[in-house]
Amino acid sequence: MDDLRERYIAAIAAAADEAGLEEIRLAALGRKGEISLQMRELGRMAPEARAAAGAALNALKDEIDAALRARREALADAALDERLKAEWLDVTLPARPRRTGSIHPVSRVTEEVTAIFADMGFAVAEGPQVESDWYNFDALNIPPEHPARQEHDTFFMARAPGDGRPPHVLRTHTSPVQIRAMAERGAPIRVIAPGRVYRMDMDQTHTPMFHQVEGLAVDRDISMANLKWVLEEFCRAYFGVDHVELRFRASHFPFTEPSAEVDIRCSWEGGALRIGEGESWLEILGSGMVHPKVLAAAGVDPDQWQGFAFGMGIDRIAMLKYGIPDLRAFFESDLRWLRHYGFAANAVPSLAGGLGG
Ligand code: DAH
Repeated sequence: MDDLRERYIAAIAAAADEAGLEEIRLAALGRKGEISLQMRELGRMAPEARAAAGAALNALKDEIDAALRARREALADAALDERLKAEWLDVTLPARPRRTGSIHPVSRVTEEVTAIFADMGFAVAEGPQVESDWYNFDALNIPPEHPARQEHDTFFMARAPGDGRPPHVLRTHTSPVQIRAMAERGAPIRVIAPGRVYRMDMDQTHTPMFHQVEGLAVDRDISMANLKWVLEEFCRAYFGVDHVELRFRASHFPFTEPSAEVDIRCSWEGGALRIGEGESWLEILGSGMVHPKVLAAAGVDPDQWQGFAFGMGIDRIAMLKYGIPDLRAFFESDLRWLRHYGFAANAVPSLAGGLGG
């Protein structure tokens, strides 16, 4: 029996796989296995010898059983280790570098401007970028022969040959939204209209596409004084200074009468712009009292209503506030530029939360 034990224990230890173990099990414990056959012999033994041999055989059977189970588990563990090694996945790969985007200065400033004017009761109005020449020019008191049409360096959209109607244009300013907003909502009205505009122009301070924000307030007794207060209030909030000084310079726009260009007092000491102090003036917008013809074109009775309007360059005031030198870089989509001048996506500007600077 010792011989049997030694042979089987050694064979089990040497078995390389599940199939090998099964062969050993059958050879020892199967119906015709060595140990099973010996068990069958017990019947022919004398009772005392049978009791001793039976117990010893049972113990041997249990021992081989246990050895088989242990070896089977060891083989399974080893196989699992093999698999884990083969199917190893490197979950420690670093995440891709900085995948968060940033908010473009134009978007950021548009939000700032919107927050400030919303606080003064202005809603946001929109209009199409491809505009009819009636909205872009005629309704704004710029008739076909008016020199302002040439000054605007307009992009014209192609018409089907022989169409006969005037071509659409890429809007040259946000002023046509004044007409659309009044025609849609009537008076009284207070809106701003931020958006893209287009002119054929390209140098350090001009790009063929740029951004303006239009302002319009129409009511029964609106005057230049209201315009002045609103613009001062805006500049104070936008530039984050307590004191601003605006200079209204007489000017001319077909859609306002009287018209004024507005400059803001500033200094350029050491290359840094400071708003509200110094001896320089910087033009920031055009404005005036809405021309009666413009009100009438939008279906608002000029005998009952009057209002002010203004148009301001968003990119321009973004450059001023955030010290960005070249306008062209705004629209080159250079990631390094966007990372440097962009804003965190979760920093939404609000008057209460601060407009940043
Ligand atoms: N539309 C003018 C431009 O693009 C800007 C402007 C001037 C808008 C006076 C106005 C305004 O609403 O009253 O140059």
